Amino acid sequence: MSDPLIPSVNIGLVGHVDHGKTTLVSHLTGQWTDRHSEEIKRGISIRLGYADATFYKCPECEGSESYSTDKECQVCNGKTEPFRTISFVDAPGHETLMATMLSGSALMDGAMLVIAANEKCPQPQTKEHLMALELVGIKNIVIVQNKIDVVSQEAALAHYQQIKKFVKGTVAEDAPVIPVSAQKGINMGALIEAINKHIPVPERDPKDDPLMLVARSFDINKPGCSWRDVKGGVIGGSLTQGVFNEGDDIEIRPGRKVEAENQVRWESIQTKVTTMNSGSRKVTEATPGGLLGIGTKLDPAITKSDALSGQVAGHVGRLPPVWNKLSFKVVLMERVVGADDEFTIDPLKHKEPLMLSVGTAVTVGVVTNTKKDVVEVVLKRPVCVAVGSRIAISRQVGGRWRLIGMGTLVE
Ligand code: GTP
Repeated sequence: MSDPLIPSVNIGLVGHVDHGKTTLVSHLTGQWTDRHSEEIKRGISIRLGYADATFYKCPECEGSESYSTDKECQVCNGKTEPFRTISFVDAPGHETLMATMLSGSALMDGAMLVIAANEKCPQPQTKEHLMALELVGIKNIVIVQNKIDVVSQEAALAHYQQIKKFVKGTVAEDAPVIPVSAQKGINMGALIEAINKHIPVPERDPKDDPLMLVARSFDINKPGCSWRDVKGGVIGGSLTQGVFNEGDDIEIRPGRKVEAENQVRWESIQTKVTTMNSGSRKVTEATPGGLLGIGTKLDPAITKSDALSGQVAGHVGRLPPVWNKLSFKVVLMERVVGADDEFTIDPLKHKEPLMLSVGTAVTVGVVTNTKKDVVEVVLKRPVCVAVGSRIAISRQVGGRWRLIGMGTLVE
């Protein structure tokens, strides 16, 4: 069995703004994922947040209460045993931050859809996020009915019926609905039990070529530090397949933008893995599941301020192609659901701008060809992605990018 202290899956927290995603992650992990000053000031998540939690079970006790994030059993005070570590990806719920939510969804093996019991269900981003899970192909879902501490039992039951009606006919139809209070830590055992049952570790082949979706990148040096102490650039994200080892030579694509003689080119970046952190632990071998930070020999100027987010890392020469133009088969939904008013979705039009989410990359492009169900889009920024991958398609509706459908990349 794999080490229960090493993260083996990424679970996304999705749902409408203020429904309690960050509070829930913080209760399960002891970490507050809103870390940026702007987020703290405005009380909303703006970027993706990450934190790990280890789940424990008491070997002596039965039922939901035997599950917890504590080393001591709440029921018998006996010693619990760790059985699984999860990395949480906390997606923002605000409607303007759908692109961030979509790029986060590329990292998720499963998701918790958080729905506050003190508001009518569904709220716009409850719908839009569930639809995003459906389009991106995330099937393992646990529904968290949060804030039960502020509603009566009757209201919670009526709200439960609203949830069941809302998810009928969707990918979450059979997902369990767990009533909790994230703030007061009520019913966390049942939630952990449900996550364990409904979000299993996906089967993975360690012999596959490693593929890391980069979601963040950093310059970890303090301003003004001596050049002797400067550490190389760091990339953060998740391996979707394969294994990375310390010392591996890696390539990052599309890479670096080079402008010369009025021409723009993208040059792949090659470097070496110098250190690796899986969650907060140093590792020498990294496997899929869990969020990975990789120290490299790159000039930190290349990685600072998320400059490499949306790119892909792997072994040199083993990455998928880079595309300046994407052709994909399209399935459009019937209605735009993320706004207060719902609109019908018209077919894609020649020359219309689209926002495409491909893995963790978000890129804008213009439709140059629409024949039958295959559409061609010329991109502002290229993406590195394998044929057959899914692409989430958003269009401008009422001044905002709204998710309207899904594409599958063809040659
Ligand atoms: P975004 O990330 O911005 O989409 O919001 P969020 O879904 O992460 O919500 P957040 O965790 O920031 O919580 C929003 C507010 O709801 C905060 O004031 C929390 O204290 C409160 N809250 C969260 N969970 C509960 C709960 O179980 N009960 C009560 N009463 N309040 C809660």
